[in-house]
Amino acid sequence: MKIIAKEQLAENLIKFVIESPNIAAKALPGQFIVLMVNETGERIPLTIVDNDKKNGTITIIFQAVGFTTTILGKLEVGDCLFSLVGPLGRPTSVGNYGQVILIGGGVGIAELLPVVRALKRAGCVVTTILGGRTADLVILSEEIKEFSNITFITTNDGSLGEKGLVTDTLKRLLGKNNDYGLVFCVGPVPMMKAVSEVTKPFGTKTLVCLNSIMIDGTGMCGCCRVTVDNQTKFACVDGPDFDGHLVDFEELMTRQKRFVEQEECGLCKLDESIKGVTE
Ligand SMILES: Cc1cc2nc3c(=O)[nH]c(=O)nc-3n(C[C@H](O)[C@H](O)[C@H](O)COP(=O)(O)OP(=O)(O)OC[C@H]3O[C@@H](n4cnc5c(N)ncnc54)[C@H](O)[C@@H]3O)c2cc1C
Ligand code: FES
Repeated sequence: MKIIAKEQLAENLIKFVIESPNIAAKALPGQFIVLMVNETGERIPLTIVDNDKKNGTITIIFQAVGFTTTILGKLEVGDCLFSLVGPLGRPTSVGNYGQVILIGGGVGIAELLPVVRALKRAGCVVTTILGGRTADLVILSEEIKEFSNITFITTNDGSLGEKGLVTDTLKRLLGKNNDYGLVFCVGPVPMMKAVSEVTKPFGTKTLVCLNSIMIDGTGMCGCCRVTVDNQTKFACVDGPDFDGHLVDFEELMTRQKRFVEQEECGLCKLDESIKGVTE
């Protein structure tokens, strides 16, 4: 579990290549790992963006948004993680859906990359839409373009691609041609909700990759509970991909806010903990 490469992709966006032959041998697109930075740290889930079976490595890309991702980002090449579990979750359903639209927002673009690669290799005609608040946050566009027939970029401030939201482009595409076999979206929950609302009237199959709060990642704690089609599902073992037309997004957004107080508290203790990790 040694970090063998580190790259800063944008401010607060870091890529690690980690030695993990067992996970690298088995990981499939859409699966994730749960890691701990140190013995007393919390467990956090991160998508396996790439796996190299030959070299026994996996790649993760994460945004330093809070306590654990910030101390994780302070690790350097040669450092080891305390623990790494995976591959977890059901892989994304890969097949030839014909024409597909694959949408990634913010750090969700990193999570989208393995799905883009897999669907292109399965014979799909791939349209990708990448969205970010500003140009710097639209990461990996060259890697995504390599496996896309066409790529659209949108930014909220117009600093790259079209000014606007991914849903503006999506509406335009579906309005012209309603022949898409799949729309797949990974990004902030409000984005996945908005995408599902756009595709619903068109009746287009829509999958969203849910980032509910996870602890064990193996179906035991119930923390990642989501309601899909009026049934309780655990995102870690039943997902993370679900039919966007059936997800109760309001409940998911409420559950995402459960630990705001503790998250803020964690940020206050950050300086002290960073010292502990880097010393
Ligand atoms: C299946 C899955 C795959 C993910 N893949 C990626 C990825 O590839 N790259 C990436 O940057 N992020 C990914 N995330 C989100 C990532 O897990 C959170 O950003 C991280 O846990 C934040 O922890 P923190 O202590 O730094 O931040 P905190 O300040 O504790 O929290 C910031 C926000 O992160 C979310 N979060 C916090 N703890 C957890 C947790 N244990 N599980 C899930 N979400 C949490 C909450 O929404 C919270 O509001 C993924 C989440 C899931 C469920
Ligand atoms: S994370 Fe515990 S049940 Fe899913």
